[in-house]
Amino acid sequence: MVEHILIVDDDNAFRIATVALLEDHGFAVQVASNAVQGQKILEKQSFDLVLSDLVMEGMNGIELLQWIKERSPETPVMMITGFASVKTAVEAIKLGAYDYITKPCDNDELLIRVRRVLEDRKKDREIRQLRDELRGTYSFSNIVSQSDSMKQVFKSVSQVADTDATVLVLGETGTGKEMLAKAIHFNSSRKLKPFIVITCSALNESLLESELFGHEKGAFTGAQRLRVGKFEDADGGTVFLDEIGDIPIHLQTKLLRVLQEKEIERVGGNRPIPVDVRVIAATNKNLAGMAKSGQFREDLFYRLNVFPIHLPPLKERPEDIPLLTEHFVRKHANLGGSRVTGVAPSVLSALAGYRWPGNVRELENVIKRALIKTEGTVIISVEVPGAARSGSASSISSPALSDNTPFKDYMKSILQNAESLFLVEMLERHQGNVKVVAELMDLDRKTVYKKIEEYHIDLAKYRGADDAP
Ligand SMILES: Nc1ncnc2c1ncn2[C@@H]1O[C@H](COP(=O)(O)OP(=O)(O)OP(=O)(O)O)[C@@H](O)[C@H]1O
Ligand SMILES: [Mg+2]
Repeated sequence: MVEHILIVDDDNAFRIATVALLEDHGFAVQVASNAVQGQKILEKQSFDLVLSDLVMEGMNGIELLQWIKERSPETPVMMITGFASVKTAVEAIKLGAYDYITKPCDNDELLIRVRRVLEDRKKDREIRQLRDELRGTYSFSNIVSQSDSMKQVFKSVSQVADTDATVLVLGETGTGKEMLAKAIHFNSSRKLKPFIVITCSALNESLLESELFGHEKGAFTGAQRLRVGKFEDADGGTVFLDEIGDIPIHLQTKLLRVLQEKEIERVGGNRPIPVDVRVIAATNKNLAGMAKSGQFREDLFYRLNVFPIHLPPLKERPEDIPLLTEHFVRKHANLGGSRVTGVAPSVLSALAGYRWPGNVRELENVIKRALIKTEGTVIISVEVPGAARSGSASSISSPALSDNTPFKDYMKSILQNAESLFLVEMLERHQGNVKVVAELMDLDRKTVYKKIEEYHIDLAKYRGADDAP
């Protein structure tokens, strides 16, 4: 692949010499003797690199640089400058220039610099491509999970994503329904077209109708202008109908028509308008039950239920809790001043023992609050009903208690919590010095190492970069 370079410079001798040099080394080169001419060329063709003089008559190099960065920020620009204007060249770097070279310059050096820019640009592109692929295949953007039930969900998503099938996402509040809908959209061939969310419960019936289908000018009092609805806005893309269980009966009929005929009619309009949209709907209600009892049109239910995906509640996939916790600690690190690196084992067991009626969203909020309150580098207490008390650094969480929990087990797990809490706290205070901690606990070092392993404590976190045990 031949790489294209544009040289913008009013210095004839430099231009001629540089063109010859670069062409000799296999680059395709074009030239402009001033910035305006450069703009004209750039408007017609894109380049892998622009070499621009800094000081030129008329528009100068800085202005040209800004113009390029606005239009195509990915095009690298290298400034050429006489010794006198090095300060301006530094300014140019701040404005997004890749590099600068001073005139007169050595041929070899010029070639090295040019190759380096092009190399970097190629790497950037490759990284971006890899990232896109990753997003496209497995990672489903940011959905974190390791449980078998979620693996099942991912499998369904990958089967259905790149089809036009209507998908119904079912799950309790906070289980990640909207997140999943986005993953489906961004893993479909519609990903470059709009993803439009409509919350069916948020508006009254007539507003929702206008929102969905739009209205003609004069359709009703107050309809002074034509309004295009969300279904038309989303043309070519995906409409996400959130809380579909709350959509009024009359609109259910209109929605059925969209799904069957692939066309809509604006309020007050009298001609059908074809639309190309994929529909994903979500609800935390029992839609099948509603359809049976007549609260939801049965035919619409069947249309929506072509490909149902059920998101399990968080308490049914406890394996995901540690992973999600770690994910949220990282995601919201700024809330803890980026000091916090993890949670104490006692906290993990408290989180595992809770019912999570608000599911993943609730877990995320609990972690956010804990990050704000934590003063050290490890979260040692969380505000979860029935688990660790809030505020106090030394609080010890108790495991979930059911009628048939053996007392012995219960005591043992509380003692383990206390032990791990003590360990973490002391390792933190003594920068991971196991010898000191072992003395404090009146245990030998080997036993302490065993416990560190048992509680999955990451010793390296407490230690400086280079000290040994
Ligand atoms: N598996 C997951 N990995 C990472 N974050 C998640 C996961 N599941 C949910 N979340 C996060 O939890 C929050 C709630 O998710 P989302 O809004 O998708 O839930 P929902 O099911 O639509 O909730 P609701 O029914 O209340 O509208 C979001 O901040 C989302 O990023
Ligand atoms: Mg939602």
